[in-house]
Amino acid sequence: MAEEVKKDAPQMFKVTIDNITVEVAPGTSILMAARKVGGDVAPPTMCFYSKLKGSGGKCRTCLVEVAAGSTADPRPMPKLVASCRTNVMDGMVVKSITSEKVLDARKGVVEFLLLNHPLDCPICDQAGECHLQDLSYEHGKEETRYEFQRRLFEREDIGPYIQLHMTRCILCYRCTYIADQITNTRMHGILDRGEHAQISTYISKAIDNDFSGNMIDVCPVGALTDRTFRFKQRVWFLKPLNAHRDCDKCCGKVTIWNRGDEVFRVTARKDEWGEVEDFDGKTGWICNTCRFDKKKTSDWVIEGPRKINRHSVISANHYLDDLKRPHETIAEVMGGRKPKLLMDIHAVSEVNKPTVHLSEIEGPATSEVFNKENGRLLPETK
Ligand code: SF4
Ligand code: FES
Repeated sequence: MAEEVKKDAPQMFKVTIDNITVEVAPGTSILMAARKVGGDVAPPTMCFYSKLKGSGGKCRTCLVEVAAGSTADPRPMPKLVASCRTNVMDGMVVKSITSEKVLDARKGVVEFLLLNHPLDCPICDQAGECHLQDLSYEHGKEETRYEFQRRLFEREDIGPYIQLHMTRCILCYRCTYIADQITNTRMHGILDRGEHAQISTYISKAIDNDFSGNMIDVCPVGALTDRTFRFKQRVWFLKPLNAHRDCDKCCGKVTIWNRGDEVFRVTARKDEWGEVEDFDGKTGWICNTCRFDKKKTSDWVIEGPRKINRHSVISANHYLDDLKRPHETIAEVMGGRKPKLLMDIHAVSEVNKPTVHLSEIEGPATSEVFNKENGRLLPETK
């Protein structure tokens, strides 16, 4: 009987997600099928990481509605399901962003994830590339109903390169999978249960092995941060560049984050889902030597600018090479006069002069404040 079923089973399953039909191999999760469709249809994920075996099923961010289970059994599934942990069936119909229930549930999930997460984005090193920050903006509510005190932990240096700020951890388990799957020894895990659950090293043992830095890359929030980079720069002030070097431990293909000639940090290269990219069929995890010890531009062969695909402030205004500037008409409109005060205030105004006290300027410091022709005196000449 089982043989007959196998023989009759189609080679590829057709699944319709938000009215778009794709074909995927049997055994594919709804989430990976949705990523094949791409864009907003792909549910957000906070714990699933396709490169880490067994990940997913912890955060419920990826909930979807199954409107029809399969061609053979088209009944809808009674509850929303975690798309990272539910496999597609042939003829399945799934609703992601087209389902009111899903959008509402995502709001609830964000609220739950934020129960114990501090709203300290302005001082968090992960700001600008935090998946929880993105998730809250895209799927969260504007207000919180939570009135109780959040969990607080002391910051802990786990090894020479990584700092754990447990207060920000959302218990996604990704870092423990990294420890299990790509380092030789696992020295940390999740201790205790429920409200008391926390990441910790056993008997405060330091995490110190060649690939431990990858935990920083997979941590979706600012709970695990790079001690060689913490608070040195905001990520959106840095220029990400693809670079490589010959490394005998890892693929040596990285993104370096520069300001001028200075390399502020080195990370693995991430794809549009925020996951480490594959090279030659293998995940491009990078070793600690490349990540923490090679901080000179001359250590690297620069390949070119790195495009950051996620909707991130990091991408804003970095590379203007393909920007098409519109024809500038202001000078023509103004009879040949250059629009100095209007368009180039910092080159001509006194705002940057150390002798001018901004607090002494009446009203906002606009170009008018410094226009001597309108009869007003500059504060320094009073
Ligand atoms: S420290 Fe980061 S990666 Fe580890 S469980 Fe917490 S949120 Fe996830
Ligand atoms: S991403 Fe599916 S449950 Fe977390």
